[in-house]
Amino acid sequence: MYRTHNCGELRIKNINTEVVLSGWVQKVRKLGGMTFVDLRDRYGITQLVFNDETDADLSEKAQKLGREFVIKITGKVTERSSKNPDLPTGEIEITVNDLEILSKSEIPPFTIEENTDGGEEIRLKYRYLDLRRPNVQKGIILRHKTTREIRNFLSNKGFLEIETPFLIKSTPEGARDFVVPSRMSEGKFYALPQSPQVFKQLLMIGGYDKYFQITKCFRDEDFRADRQPEFTQIDCEMSFVERDDVLTVFEEMTKHIFKKVMNIDFPETFPRLKYDEAMEKYGSDKPDIRFEMKIHEISKSAKNKGFKIFDDAEYVGAICAEGLASYSRKQLDKLVDFVKRPQIGAKGLVYVKYNEDGTFKSSVDKFYSAEDLKTWADTLSAKPGDLILVMSGNKKETLTQLGELRLEMGDRSELRDKNKFAPLWIIDFPLFEKDEETGQLHAMHHPFTSPKISDIELLDTDPEAVKANAYDLVINGNEIGGGSIRIHNTEMQEKMFEHLGFTKEEAEEQFGFLMNAFKYGAPPHGGIAFGLDRWVALLNGSESIRDVMAFPKNNAGRDLMIDAPSEIDKQQLEDLHLTVVKKF
Ligand code: AMO
Repeated sequence: MYRTHNCGELRIKNINTEVVLSGWVQKVRKLGGMTFVDLRDRYGITQLVFNDETDADLSEKAQKLGREFVIKITGKVTERSSKNPDLPTGEIEITVNDLEILSKSEIPPFTIEENTDGGEEIRLKYRYLDLRRPNVQKGIILRHKTTREIRNFLSNKGFLEIETPFLIKSTPEGARDFVVPSRMSEGKFYALPQSPQVFKQLLMIGGYDKYFQITKCFRDEDFRADRQPEFTQIDCEMSFVERDDVLTVFEEMTKHIFKKVMNIDFPETFPRLKYDEAMEKYGSDKPDIRFEMKIHEISKSAKNKGFKIFDDAEYVGAICAEGLASYSRKQLDKLVDFVKRPQIGAKGLVYVKYNEDGTFKSSVDKFYSAEDLKTWADTLSAKPGDLILVMSGNKKETLTQLGELRLEMGDRSELRDKNKFAPLWIIDFPLFEKDEETGQLHAMHHPFTSPKISDIELLDTDPEAVKANAYDLVINGNEIGGGSIRIHNTEMQEKMFEHLGFTKEEAEEQFGFLMNAFKYGAPPHGGIAFGLDRWVALLNGSESIRDVMAFPKNNAGRDLMIDAPSEIDKQQLEDLHLTVVKKF
């Protein structure tokens, strides 16, 4: 027998029990005629004690143990003379009478502790060691709890979990496909699914009116903290539903997860914000509403006062940072540098200090009187002591830049509390977005998204004004999920492809199977998919989704542990009918 208990389990009530424990050696230390070993597993740490006098041989063996050795011990639970209140097992220790080394370990390349000395690259290379760290384990366990609750909730609601294939034809979710060459069909390729989108729609046509799947999706896109080339979706679809039916079920699911996993109650229904309003007020389609600091347009009062930059701008907007009028010149210069960073790309920033004594000090005092500045302050409901930050330019760009600045100011004022959660639905997205360079329309979600019924007439006359019957779930500024009511008839789907620049033949070639399926009794349907990694990262308070994935890839999309992607041998290439042409 390897163990009667785990390393996080024994308490004062177990005193005098004979136990067998197995685990990893965290630490060995000698102190006043005793040798202490901290034994660790994923449940906790238990202190082992060896008496150097009464059993010198065993003590010596213990002293030779190295970090991360795997051992098995037999011993008796005893009360500690100096208790450790920080450890759940801190009132007891095990007086060991037998020690067996199950597996030796080389010195690990970094310390296996919460605050490790290892950088990210080395930890990814030795991910199996990193996975032993308690904070990493916390994320992995939280992920399990979350998926278990999702399965419970959806199964209780009558959803069926159905798998869909990985070797498929391209799905248009807006990223590049990962492709897999076919050995049997020369020169042909499978694509890995960017999502199970078309399959879940086909399942609706197949009569499985409530579907879900917790599944991997693959997208060849640039990496960010919240993006991985393979990630997990909680993918869901329902038949005979309208938007509000979908939102109701998944709002309930969100509440269920927060309650069961985090013991957090959301008593109210989630706020809903139209896309246009989200952009106008927060400069983002995934606003963080844990704090206010909304954007206000001040174009009218800012223009025609001789300040050329504002006069020439399509839009002038501002935010009010509460209590920051005391910002120094240096702090303001740093803010200007912040908005000028290429990721934000603003040309500059105007500030207005609304001083405690009611006077104003701004970087545009030459052009605006105190009265003018008071008008801005009133628009923003600013009070003495506040700092007003103004940006101008093209409306869309300026709003996005102000949105970024808003988040930065939220961080600086510590308004983005990790322990607070603020969910909301964003609704009424535009159906299309336009490529500014080519003028071509693209689907904002994907080409199967239905337009809002009230906007169908606009499809032919003003497609850019058409709103989609689509929705996103946003929590604390993260897009956690997105979905829509779908198109379920051939004519509308054909029209959609036409707007997206597909010829009839191209649409037929790529999606003929779906349009054909629509001809055999397609129920009205809609659904949503959530990013599981993002969701768990949020619950875990992690900055990156990597923290809650067992085997993530690095920033360059590499798995440093198994060294992938890598070259394949000549024979494999030949079997797959491939030749690699190296550019350099
Ligand atoms: P969408 O493309 O919005 O919708 O994806 C759904 C959710 O998946 C998460 N997500 C990602 N997470 C980590 N890494 C990535 N690279 C990544 N890309 C997306 C996000 C996102 O909200 N088929 C549609 C859903 C539908 O219409 O039902 C779809 O895939 O949290």
